[in-house]
This record gives sequence, C-alpha cells and structure tokens, in this order.
Amino acid sequence: MKEKLLEIRASALDAAAAAQDEASIEKVRIDYLGKKGALTAILRGMGALSAQERPVIGQLANEVRTAIEAALSERGGQLKAQALDRRLAAEKLDVTAPGRKPAVGQRHPLAKVEAELCEIFTGMGFDIVEGPEVEYDKYNFEKLNIPKNHPARDTQDTFYITENILLRSQTSPVQVRTMEQRKPPIRIISPGRVYRSDAVDATHSPVFHQLEGLVVDRGITMGDLKGMLEYFAEKLFGEGTRLRFRPHHFPFTEPSAEVDVSCFVCGGKGCRVCKGEGWIEILGAGMVHPSVLAGCDIDPDVYSGFAFGLGIERIVMRKYNINDMRLLYENDLRFLRQF
Ligand code: DAH
Repeated sequence: MKEKLLEIRASALDAAAAAQDEASIEKVRIDYLGKKGALTAILRGMGALSAQERPVIGQLANEVRTAIEAALSERGGQLKAQALDRRLAAEKLDVTAPGRKPAVGQRHPLAKVEAELCEIFTGMGFDIVEGPEVEYDKYNFEKLNIPKNHPARDTQDTFYITENILLRSQTSPVQVRTMEQRKPPIRIISPGRVYRSDAVDATHSPVFHQLEGLVVDRGITMGDLKGMLEYFAEKLFGEGTRLRFRPHHFPFTEPSAEVDVSCFVCGGKGCRVCKGEGWIEILGAGMVHPSVLAGCDIDPDVYSGFAFGLGIERIVMRKYNINDMRLLYENDLRFLRQF
C-alpha cells in the first residue's frame, strides 16, 4: 500500500506539473483527490489494514494529499502569472510614442471684442443683463417711444413672428425690461444678437450684434455720459483717444447724439481706416427720454439716466481693419486664425 501511495504521489505531481491551464489542474484534482479519485480509493481500503499499519499508512496518505494540493496550487499560480504576462505583452502601450496634438481653437473676433467690452464695463461697475432675441413689439418699439407707424421703424424693419412678436432689431428693449424689474440705481450693459430685414452685403447682415448700456440714478447728466464714454474709448482704443458728439435723433433719448472716436490708426489726420475723416463713428447715445422712464414707473422728476448702443461688428471691423462683414460669418479658419 505504501508503494501504491508513493506511485500516486509521483504521477499526481507529474500531471500537475504538465498541466497547461486551469481546466487540466482541476482535472488532476478530481482524478486524485476527488470522491472517486485514486487517493480517496486508497483511504477507503484502510479498514483492511492491521492496527500497526493503519497510523503509518494514514500519515503517509495525509502527506501525499498535502503534497498534491501544494503542487496543484503552485502550478495554478504559475499558470495565472503566465496568462497575465501574455496579456500585458499583448496590450502593451508605448508611452514614449509622441502624442497626437489636439487642435486648439481660439475665440472668434466677435466674441473676443464682446468679452473685451464686457470687461471694460464690468470694471466700471456695470452688471451684464441679457434679454430675449424673440421680443414683444412693446419692448422693441412701443415703450421706446416708437409707436406703430412711427417713421423710425423704417430703418429697423425686422422679422415678425406675429403682429406683436418679432426678432428684436436692437438691444434697447433690454433697457425697458431692466427698468421694469429693477429700480435705480441701475447700471447695466446688455450684449447680444439683433436682427434686421437687410440684404447681405459688405456692411449689412440680417443678423448682427450690439451692446446696450443704461445708467439711471438721481442727478445723472450728459457730463456723466461723456466722462464714462471717454474712459471707455481710451480703454478700448488706447490712451489719447478723443470723442466727438454729433447731434442726432433717437426716439428714446433726448438729447441724442452720435459719437465718434478719433481714428486710432492716424490719430485724426485722416487715413485709410477712417476713410480720410480722422473720426470713426462708434455708437449712438443720449439721455433717457422722460416718457421712457415714466413708462417703466420711474419718476423722471426724481431720476435721470443715459443710454448708449453700439454695433459690435463695426468695432471689430475697424479694430482689425476688416472691409467685408461677411468674412465674420463664413467661419473660414484661414481668416479666423489671424486674430
Ligand atoms: N438702438 C439704437 C440703434 O440700434 C442705438 C442706440 C442709440 C441705443 C441711442 C441707445 C441709445 O441706447 O441711447 O440704432
């Protein structure tokens, strides 16, 4: 019986060492240690042994079992490690290979200038307020002193959704929306998209961008408007930039002005950028009309204010000397990468 046990051990250890995968390991376990296995059969036959032989054979049988279990687990561990090595080799990443550079974009010149404008005004304590592009006629026109049939509507023909809902033709309706919701002191700007029923050419687009400004408080004067705009112009176009106010008419301001800056290229002598004029028109402005204030429940005998509105495209075109507005919307990267 002893020889039989030694034989079992030798052949089980050989089989374990020869196993090439988990399944064959398991098969060796069943063949030798399982219920119907070779070692189990020996143990069953121990009843026939003499009282002296039994403990000796029993001890040997236990040693054989332990040896087989150890061999199986060692071989199992080897196989697992080999499998891992194979996987690591197969899935190898070369971390030293040069990476693929992601294409880094940049801001569109319109967005860039808009951000610059916002930064200048927020630096002066203005809040940024946004209004809807689909707007009521009431806010775009009526409450800005432009009733139906007013001739000022001719220059601001836009796209109508219904008779009383339209695509806003200016950012000025945000003035009214703000004055309805906030009470003075008010100091806001409102950048955004506006629409007009204009054919596309080098200086017109049915969609463009404006930035509106509004200040309302006690004792606000035209002097405040001029001082604020002078500071703004120097920030945007450089120190020494001068302003020129030309009388104008806007229905929602009184008095009203168109405002020019001295040419930031030639300083006022006249050049290609200012078309020989020395001045560049940049915005419309004025003192908020008393009836616009009153229409928003702000007492014009107590409060006064100024407002201004500028076209962002116009500033971008002058600043970067772009002569065709369409270039700003075509999204040709060769053009956009220049800014
Ligand atoms: N909304 C005017 C336009 O589109 C620009 C403008 C002029 C806005 C005077 C103002 C202002 O706030 O006071 O032509």
